[in-house]
Formats: sequence, C-alpha cells, structure tokens
Amino acid sequence: MGWRPKTHFHVLTSAQQPIDLSNPLKDFARITMRDTILQTQGLTKEFKGFTAVNSVDLEVQRGHIHALIGPNGAGKTTFFNLLTKFLPPTRGRIVYNGIDITREQPAQTARRGLVRSFQISAVFPHLTVLENVRAALQRNLGTSFHFWKSESTLYPLHDRVHELLAQVDLQDFADELTVNLPYGRKRALELATTLALEPELMLLDEPTQGMGHEDVDRVTQLIKKVAVGRTVLMVEHNMNVISSIADRITVLQRGAIIADGPYDEVSKNPLVIEAYMGSADTPLQGAH
Ligand SMILES: Nc1ncnc2c1ncn2[C@@H]1O[C@H](COP(=O)(O)OP(=O)(O)OP(=O)(O)O)[C@@H](O)[C@H]1O
Ligand SMILES: [Mg+2]
Repeated sequence: MGWRPKTHFHVLTSAQQPIDLSNPLKDFARITMRDTILQTQGLTKEFKGFTAVNSVDLEVQRGHIHALIGPNGAGKTTFFNLLTKFLPPTRGRIVYNGIDITREQPAQTARRGLVRSFQISAVFPHLTVLENVRAALQRNLGTSFHFWKSESTLYPLHDRVHELLAQVDLQDFADELTVNLPYGRKRALELATTLALEPELMLLDEPTQGMGHEDVDRVTQLIKKVAVGRTVLMVEHNMNVISSIADRITVLQRGAIIADGPYDEVSKNPLVIEAYMGSADTPLQGAH
C-alpha cells in the first residue's frame, strides 16, 4: 500500500482554493511561492533633482486587481509611465514575468501584454463604435495602414469585434458614432480597444475620473468583469471603487510607498489617513 490517500482530501487555504493532498509537491509550490507578475525594485524617477518616484519596490500578484492610491502629485502617473516605458527610469528595475524589461522599448513591453488604457483617448470620435474596435484589432495585427484593402477582407475580424463589444456591454451601440456616446460608454469603448490588444496586465489610470454615480458603478463592474483571467493595476481616487474591487492596495506619498496591503488594513493605517486628511484622527472614507 502506498502512502497516498485513496480519496482526495481537501484543505482550504485563505484563498478558499482546495488543496490536492495527493500531489503535495505541486501544492507546496502553490502555497509557498507567490505568483508575481510584476515587480519593481528601487524604481526611481528624478526630474531635474526632483524625485517623483522614489525607490519603489512594488509587487503585483497575478490575477489581482491591485490599486495604487495616493494624494495628487504622489507620482502614480509617473510610475505608470515608467512601467510602459513612456519615461526611462533614473534608477531601479522592472521585472515582468521574471524577465528584466527595464531597458525594453515601449512596443516590446506592450507586446508582452503589459498594456495601458485611459492614457490618451485612443478612440476616433467620427468612427462608429464597431470601427473603433476593429481599428484597434488591426493595430494589433499590424495591418492598420492597409487602407487600400477592401472592406470585405476585414469581415473575419467582426466576430472578435462583437465579442469585445459584448464584454463591455456595448453590443447595442455598434453602429453608433463614437462622438455621440455618453461619457461612461466612451470609457467602456476605450476598455474594449485595450482588450483588443489582449493585455495580460492592464494598467488603468483613474478609470472613473469625472463620472457620475451611475457611470462609476457601471465602469467598476466592467473592470471587475474584464479582470477575470488577467491582472489589473489601477490608479483610483474613489475609495468606494477600491474597497469593492481591489484585492490589494499600495499607497504612494511623495513618490514613496507608505503602506501596502488589503483595504481594511491600509485604510486604518495612520500614515495613510494623515496623507489624505492631513490628520490621523479622521477615518479614511471616500477621499477625493
Ligand atoms: N515631465 C515632468 N517634468 C517635471 N516634473 C514632473 C513631470 N511629470 C511629473 N512631474 C512631477 O512629478 C510629481 C508626480 O506627478 P504625477 O503626475 O506622477 O502624480 P500623480 O500621483 O499621478 O498625481 P494625480 O493624482 O494628480 O494624477 C508632480 O509633482 C509632478 O509635477
Ligand atoms: Mg496622475
């Protein structure tokens, strides 16, 4: 008789995933090793002696919705610009899927699946919703400038376009001119054009900025939905959004990390409360 149990015993970890005791080695690896998709080490950006990002060690776990928060000017957008290679770092390293990508070109990093949305408005106002998503797919295929191609050669893309539109609940708006979309729907379209690039780690910079309640709720649910099977790192000021969807939160202040952890822990941290409120006496609620 072998030592392995004939039936499978299941133990629940804190993540509520059953552990297969018949294969202890596999699960040992899963329990003891964190699956890190992105890691920065001492990442620093100085602008003429001013340190906008100060020696940031950030770890993002695969599959998480990870929120990056902090007061205005904390360095959040600059940090994103470093990750996407829009800016070169002064010091430090960026490791993505175990590979040092610090010195890579922006396009190469994007091809790895590290993609940013809500950066510049990536949609064309006078194309229809469908045409915009199709253009994003063509960009991904490297055929965007083949304008001489006949319309019919684009038909094979249409299934994928409709799939992407359905993912962001825009299926009923396919033939609408983008310029006519309400603001929240435009953001959903931007999300679809980003999804066309098949991001593995999606960076969102203030996706609910400037939205009314209803749009905030809709976009929050959309982010949760499209985050399934991928990783999201998002800058967000709305604490209700963060508390409802973020698995982990990192707080930046003056370019440096002052707190990192789950919402309940971070929101009670006196340093964080002080950074937002200027006093440690007020609990952190819906800052901004
Ligand atoms: N290209 C630049 N040259 C000089 N200073 C810059 C540059 N870009 C950003 N900064 C400065 O770096 C600091 C961090 O800016 P950043 O935009 O990253 O902050 P943020 O956390 O995104 O703020 P917000 O919440 O307002 O979006 C600010 O003081 C900003 O003025
Ligand atoms: Mg910013």
